[in-house]
Amino acid sequence: MQVTKTVEETRNLVKNWKKEGKSIGLVPTMGFLHEGHASLIQRCREENDIVVVSDFVNPTQFGPTEDLEAYPRDFARDSALCEGLGADLIFNPEPENMYSNPHAFVNIDLLSETLCGKTRPIHFKGVCTVVSKLFNIVAPDRAYFGQKDAQQLAIIRKMVEDLNFDIQIVGCPIVREADGLAKSSRNTYLDENERKAALCLSRAVKKGQEVIHAGAAAQDVLTEMKAIIEAEPLAEIDYVSMVDALTMQPVEKAEKDVLVAMAVYIGKTRLIDNFSYEV
Ligand code: PAF
Repeated sequence: MQVTKTVEETRNLVKNWKKEGKSIGLVPTMGFLHEGHASLIQRCREENDIVVVSDFVNPTQFGPTEDLEAYPRDFARDSALCEGLGADLIFNPEPENMYSNPHAFVNIDLLSETLCGKTRPIHFKGVCTVVSKLFNIVAPDRAYFGQKDAQQLAIIRKMVEDLNFDIQIVGCPIVREADGLAKSSRNTYLDENERKAALCLSRAVKKGQEVIHAGAAAQDVLTEMKAIIEAEPLAEIDYVSMVDALTMQPVEKAEKDVLVAMAVYIGKTRLIDNFSYEV
């Protein structure tokens, strides 16, 4: 497995692989890899000749008061995990290898304004910018993203369509701990009590799935889910919403495919979870 730090080195390797007729898969990450990332890398390994993992804590997707500095990092561990999973390359740039100042941004506005975009107004602009850059640097045939960040996945699909990237976007299922908590690098922020309290998210997901299958309107689904979260003293709801799966705009009933998504503070840690419902 090789490790590159610069755009130029990465492009040269990719050019050679392409000359050999090899297909390239990309798994974009911010590092501190867990089983959720591992599932993306495994799927990428099965479907491509070459597996590229990017490991970059992207500063442009963090707001001024968010956890950019505190975001967990452990490149040695990430590197061992990627090697064990058969990755061919980790691209691990420094911010100065990625961004000049000032630099261009990519923004997919409408879809970025609801759900997480309300509390994190610049987040998806940063995500779209870095993912576009990674797509241009690695020129993958396929790129892999987790369904846990469902709004991110929908925005990236729209960006690929709108900007004509010739890349197949592969969405992969949420990976959960045995007790239901969705895997996240931010779970490491939770202390013992918060870790227990965080289970209210997956319990709310389960309840929401039951109620929506019984044909309930959005308001009833969301009321049942919120009641579970509100019963947990350490939890504070940022949002619990039902939106159209493609446009990310609120809906009153699941008449088309929908996403039911939430963000909840457990202490100071903001966690997300969701489920999709297909009609
Ligand atoms: O999902 C993430 O980890 C990040 O948002 C991504 C896609 C790697 C962009 O920095």
